[in-house]
Amino acid sequence: MARITASVYTSHVPAIGAALDLGKAGEPYWQQVFRGYDFSKQWLKAHKPDVVFLVYNDHATAFSLEMIPTFAIGCAAQFPVADEGWGPRPVPMVIGHPELAAHIAQSVIQDDFDLTIVNKMDVDHGLTVPMSLMCGQPAVPHFAWPFPVIPFAVNVVQYPVPSGRRCFMLGQAIRRAIESYDEPLKVQIWGTGGMSHQLQGPRAGLINREFDNNFLDQLIADPARLAQMPHIDYVREAGSEGIELVMWLIARGAMADVAGGAKPKVVHRFYHVPASNTAVGHLILENV
Ligand code: DHB
Ligand code: FE
Repeated sequence: MARITASVYTSHVPAIGAALDLGKAGEPYWQQVFRGYDFSKQWLKAHKPDVVFLVYNDHATAFSLEMIPTFAIGCAAQFPVADEGWGPRPVPMVIGHPELAAHIAQSVIQDDFDLTIVNKMDVDHGLTVPMSLMCGQPAVPHFAWPFPVIPFAVNVVQYPVPSGRRCFMLGQAIRRAIESYDEPLKVQIWGTGGMSHQLQGPRAGLINREFDNNFLDQLIADPARLAQMPHIDYVREAGSEGIELVMWLIARGAMADVAGGAKPKVVHRFYHVPASNTAVGHLILENV
């Protein structure tokens, strides 16, 4: 059977992608951000997954305001990198895992969660920046990401957004789905977006270090309690775009302890301000 070996949590700031692509990663400002991922890149090489189930949000790139799925699972064989206005990032196309994605869709929908099945989709910085942070920049001649990815898009852009409670329950259903897949795959689940940030209005630039660090503490120690926090508290405390953090609860809900297993091992934790307008948070939890 397939199993979830670890979960990874990281912010997705688009300026991080631009810094990497434009050769600015060595500048002192960006060095402070990237040093938090030195360990992670080594860890990922040593714990290479067969597939990553990557929870992220689309920023009106693949889905416009004309059609807004709350939860969308990418079942395609490949996902082109989106042009977000400056041309597509110079990173490889994302290779999917249609068999596992279809199995997860079947299992999770029969487990009472409505998913939108997506068979054609471009992926934006919400997905490619976490990939770059964790994998580094793939270079020619092997211009490919090191593993297939199932993109799972969550609407945290246009209200109403899903609650943290629902996201946490969905993570549990995704775990049941993966663990009933009849092939011994090592699967990681990544929760991306966050941490505190607000890009618009009078509070633009908002950062809340205390909230963010509390969120990291609770995500590790008591995610069931954290999942009860209403969406309005995210907006008040972490800013309008801080709501992206509900996606971390999908990944956390898929960990073994939530289903009665052992507590995960915290192998890495990092927090840094600033990166563009956002507080960068990053965690790696291993199932033991
Ligand atoms: C920024 C952060 C985001 O999450 C995003 O989607 C766009 C911009 C920023 O910090 O600039
Ligand atoms: Fe964002």
